[in-house]
Amino acid sequence: MSDTNGLPPVVTIDGPSGSGKGTIAKLLADRLSFSLLDSGALYRAAALAALNKEVDLSNDKLLTELAKDLDVRFTVSAGQLQVWLEESDVTADIRMERVSMAASKVAAIPGVRAALLQRQRDFRQPPGLVADGRDMGTTVFPDAPVKVYLTASAEERANRRFAQLQEKGVSVSLRDLLEDIRARDAQDMNRKASPLAPAEDAVELDSTGVSIDEVLRKVLDLVQERISP
Ligand code: DC
Repeated sequence: MSDTNGLPPVVTIDGPSGSGKGTIAKLLADRLSFSLLDSGALYRAAALAALNKEVDLSNDKLLTELAKDLDVRFTVSAGQLQVWLEESDVTADIRMERVSMAASKVAAIPGVRAALLQRQRDFRQPPGLVADGRDMGTTVFPDAPVKVYLTASAEERANRRFAQLQEKGVSVSLRDLLEDIRARDAQDMNRKASPLAPAEDAVELDSTGVSIDEVLRKVLDLVQERISP
C-alpha cells in the first residue's frame, strides 16, 4: 500500500456507540494487516485509573495530569486486544458500566484529549492503521485518505446491545438501554472538545438493517479506491 505524504495510510472509523464500528475496525485491520487503534479503550483506561486513584471526576486539572502520566499499553493476544494499566491486565475491567460512564466524563475534558493526542498518533505505523473512535477523522488523523462515519438508528443499536447482554446472561430493559444510548449520544455530540461529528470528507454509512459483511465490503471498496496498491 502506498504512503500518504510519506506517512502510513490511515482508515478512520468514527460514529456513535453501538454503530458496529469496533467490529468493522477489527475485521478491516485483520483483512489489511494494519494496526488497530481502539481510542475508546484509551479513554476507558484513563477513566479506570482515575477511579482506582479516587480522583474527583470533576477535577479537570488532576485528570489532565493523570492522562499525561498514564501508564497504559496495548498488546494483541490470539488476535484480541489486551489493555494494560501499569502492570495489570484491565481488558475486562475497562468495559464495566461504571467505567463507561466515567470515560464519557473524562473524554469531555480538553486537557485529557490533548494529553492523549500524540499517543494516538503514535499508532500510525507501516503498513497502515485502522483507527476507531469519535474524532479520528476530524482531529486525530485529519489527513487520513479513508474516513468512514458509521451510524445506525438508536433503536437498532439498543437492540444489538440487548442481544449481546442477553447472550451474556445479563438482564436489562430494552427501554433503559435505548435511553442510555440517547443520553450518551447527546453527551458525545454536544461536548465542546472534539464532539462526535462526521469529518467533512467522511463517507457516511448507515448500518441499520445491513449485515456486517456488507458494511465491511463497502469499506474495503473505499480502501481500494483511495489507497492505491
Ligand atoms: O468507543 P467507547 O465506548 O469505548 O468509548 C468510550 C468513551 O470514550 C465514550 O464515552 C466516548 C469517548 N471517546 C471519545 O470521546 N473519543 C474517542 N476518540 C473515542 C472514545
